[in-house]
Amino acid sequence: MDTLVQAALAAREYAHAPFSGFKVGAALEDEDGRIHTGCNIENVTYGLTLCAERVAVFKAMSEGARHFRRIAIAADSSALTPPCGACRQILWEFCGDIEVILVNLEGKTESLHLKELFPRPFDASYL
Ligand code: THU
Repeated sequence: MDTLVQAALAAREYAHAPFSGFKVGAALEDEDGRIHTGCNIENVTYGLTLCAERVAVFKAMSEGARHFRRIAIAADSSALTPPCGACRQILWEFCGDIEVILVNLEGKTESLHLKELFPRPFDASYL
């Protein structure tokens, strides 16, 4: 199995999801091949919950990574779980049109590009 997919599945184990019970893992590969992982971290106010993808992006940014190749997103759903709208915006801003690999616990995968999920993004080019 792809190392990045394995990393996303492993990161999912650390999810803190006592409210939804829905655990998500993400693994983001930078241009040097380093893997930055994230999991969802829920909060009692619900609105302060962080998705796995944003945790991975912000962890990577905070460690100096700036260019990214791929992200794998792991969840336990038969229909593969795509990133939410907020995460699509963040992924677009910091990662551009990267490859997005969705995976579930049965090992089913699908590869897309972010532009397919987020076809007409708002970004700094409009400012
Ligand atoms: N969640 C993620 O972490 N990533 C996604 O792509 C979809 C949703 C989380 C947020 C929340 O903790 C739980 O899944 C249910 O929405």
